[in-house]
Amino acid sequence: MKKVVLGSNGLEVSRLGLGCMGMSAFYTGAGQDEAGSIATIHRALELGVTFFDTAEMYGPYENEKLLGKAFKGRRDEAIIATKFGTLNHETNERQLDGSPANVRASVEGSLERLQTDHIDLYYQHRMDPSVPIEETVGALAELIAEGKILNYGLSEAAPATIRRAHAVHPVAALQTEYSLWSRDPEAEILPLVRELGIGFVPYSPLGRGFLTGAIRSLDQLDEADFRRNNPRFEGENLEANIRIVEQVDAVAAEVGATPGQVALAWILAKGDNIAPIPGTTKVKNLEDNVKADALVLSAAQLAVLDAVAAPTGDRYADMSGVNK
Ligand code: ATR
Repeated sequence: MKKVVLGSNGLEVSRLGLGCMGMSAFYTGAGQDEAGSIATIHRALELGVTFFDTAEMYGPYENEKLLGKAFKGRRDEAIIATKFGTLNHETNERQLDGSPANVRASVEGSLERLQTDHIDLYYQHRMDPSVPIEETVGALAELIAEGKILNYGLSEAAPATIRRAHAVHPVAALQTEYSLWSRDPEAEILPLVRELGIGFVPYSPLGRGFLTGAIRSLDQLDEADFRRNNPRFEGENLEANIRIVEQVDAVAAEVGATPGQVALAWILAKGDNIAPIPGTTKVKNLEDNVKADALVLSAAQLAVLDAVAAPTGDRYADMSGVNK
């Protein structure tokens, strides 16, 4: 597995990471197969995946606890990224909070659940418009000085916010949705992170599973599955978006790969500061996804993929929390 360095502080990670969210939250089957999830994490380590992504709000808390268990006795083999800032710790309801007091309280909880004394990469999960980013980053810089976190990142931050944060303390990584059907970052975000030397971590690189071709109907998803309320998966939009998978499938057939592998290889071809974090709960799917590291697409194939149809439907029902 090839490695990439995120940010100017030398944070080296496998260029394919593992998104762990779905093991505990949001997707069909979440929280139902702890042994399978831990086996997937351990298989990832065997295959050279070193970059594991979680957040305090996945579960909430359960996903961090799962990683704590999985990495017991082998903490040094993993680069752990987690996130704060979207959870009220009293009610466990969603609440944006970028205050320095919440940064400090949150990190202690994450360290405990992860059973570790340091977090490799600590992201603000969503921007809090009521707290100037300089204050939040000031608190994060203190945590770095104390060794509790080694690097910090932002998730779904807007270009102006990234610049302001970076001026206070260098941002190691920006995590934002990016895939063949979520291309928004190409306009401003990708050039900006390249300019500033910030790593880019695409989440949902498989389009929340859609780009693998495995989801053809909402009937496949649990009642509580997040995707049932995601505009791109709803009714006519889902039907319309299947043409995207068909276009990816055509390239996949040409190269003898799966559409999911092609979707990942297309992202990997976008730069040497990019580390997508495909999510899976299953060893078999992980093994398939990791093969994308060795898949090299031709310029012509990349051009075909660059030209795939834009999706129908927003990537969230409520877009007010992103690009802030
Ligand atoms: P996220 O970042 O939100 O987790 P993603 O990485 O774009 O989203 O896609 C994750 C989804 O793709 C999960 O529902 C995962 O399901 P499993 O846990 O059942 O694997 C699905 N997925 C991941 N790899 C897959 C593969 N190789 N084949 C089919 N589905 C896959």
